[in-house]
Amino acid sequence: MTATLEAPAALCAGVPATATDGLQVPVPNGWIDYANFDHAASTPALRSVMAAVERVVSGYGSVHRGNGHPSRMTSRGYDAAREEVGRFVGVRDDDHVVFTRNTTDAWNLLSHALPQDTTVVAFASEHHSTLLPWGAHRTVTLGVPATVADGIRALDAALGAVTTQHCLVVVAGASNVTGEVWPIAEIVAVARRHGARVALDAAQLAPHRRIDLAAWDVDYVAFSGHKVYAPYGTGVLAGRGDWLDTAAPYLPGGGATVSVTASEVVWAIGPERHEGGTPNVVGTVALAAACAALQEHRADIALYEHALGARLRRGLAAIPGVHLHTLFGSAVDQVAVVAFTVDGLDAGVVSAALSAEYGIGVRDGRFCAHRLVDHLLAGQSGTVGAGGQSGMPSGRPREVAAVRASLGLATRPHHVERLIAAVADLATRGPALRYVRSGAGWELPDVSGPATGARLW
Ligand SMILES: Cc1ncc(COP(=O)(O)O)c(C=O)c1O
Repeated sequence: MTATLEAPAALCAGVPATATDGLQVPVPNGWIDYANFDHAASTPALRSVMAAVERVVSGYGSVHRGNGHPSRMTSRGYDAAREEVGRFVGVRDDDHVVFTRNTTDAWNLLSHALPQDTTVVAFASEHHSTLLPWGAHRTVTLGVPATVADGIRALDAALGAVTTQHCLVVVAGASNVTGEVWPIAEIVAVARRHGARVALDAAQLAPHRRIDLAAWDVDYVAFSGHKVYAPYGTGVLAGRGDWLDTAAPYLPGGGATVSVTASEVVWAIGPERHEGGTPNVVGTVALAAACAALQEHRADIALYEHALGARLRRGLAAIPGVHLHTLFGSAVDQVAVVAFTVDGLDAGVVSAALSAEYGIGVRDGRFCAHRLVDHLLAGQSGTVGAGGQSGMPSGRPREVAAVRASLGLATRPHHVERLIAAVADLATRGPALRYVRSGAGWELPDVSGPATGARLW
């Protein structure tokens, strides 16, 4: 037996509150507080973020387009948000911070801004949003490495073979499947030796670790608001201004110009060049509030997530028939994301049962990182599923899919214990309810308790 997690008040004390703390969800015999292990997909808003949203929606005006007091306040809020986000990622003086819709949008913007003669190098293990925007014709995709050293060697060799004038290495700060933190310093060192730039996908790193473009000598970073405790709809591309300033505007239109005459359009230089149209001020103010809170509470958050993550890994690893999946084993630091499979059970059934029977939210599948999950689960084929219904063994081939438990600020220590106990139950007894395949997923039985539970929507 492994020790359960102690929850001294000090461990939770410095952790910012989220909008969903205490949220009740239905289970077969009533309602239970929601155990959120799906932070890697989207995080709930922080309460301080909600307060910032409340402030801005109660009095906003046009942004950079008017002199009324609300307009001036709104413009100031938008500019301040850019500065806050810049500090959050440690920009250099001449870097740009461009607001986008999300990480995917940020990489598509950077792809659009790359000089024509650019080769992009990425590992196949990347999230599809980081692997695909560059176009197959100019992307060199490296195989999923077996070790960090293999990865660095493969990168070195690939960069040595690049013949174009410009080269960009794109790499995730932390994997959205295994939570493993990639060796950014080594990657930057190799890239620099070959004169390449580095773009860091911080979608999974930003919620958990400090980011410092200047100190790390990284050229670009992208991340999404909805993964750092702000609402959907805002992302960031920050980094070197030169390629961005010479590229055609990403969203040509109002706000992106300096002047327009019959014969000439002069486009803005700086972030505005690529932010055509009226920006999402509420989203950017919310994002800045989230960044400020994460910066302020970094040390407490790190302690909290480390304690919960270590307990979760230990607890799951001790359950017979449960397998944790990593690329590099214990050789690297990991953020609080754990991928696992359970012998004899489809990942989709595990995820459905955790939700319907235990009030726990996880994700199952291949997490938009198909090549990585295929690599991790290669050789793991087994059999599952009584006619595809209960999830207990019947001879049907197992899907290539894993369960992902990702914890964060909405996860409480007792949720970790609940998840470990629930997975142990499922691994030994299987699900108590029946789950029917429906399209790409599994239909959850209706377990709504008496009508006393709060409606979410
Ligand atoms: C590592 C990583 N990169 C990129 C993305 C894409 O983020 P978004 O969907 O917000 O654009 C995700 C989303 O899960 C991710 O985990």
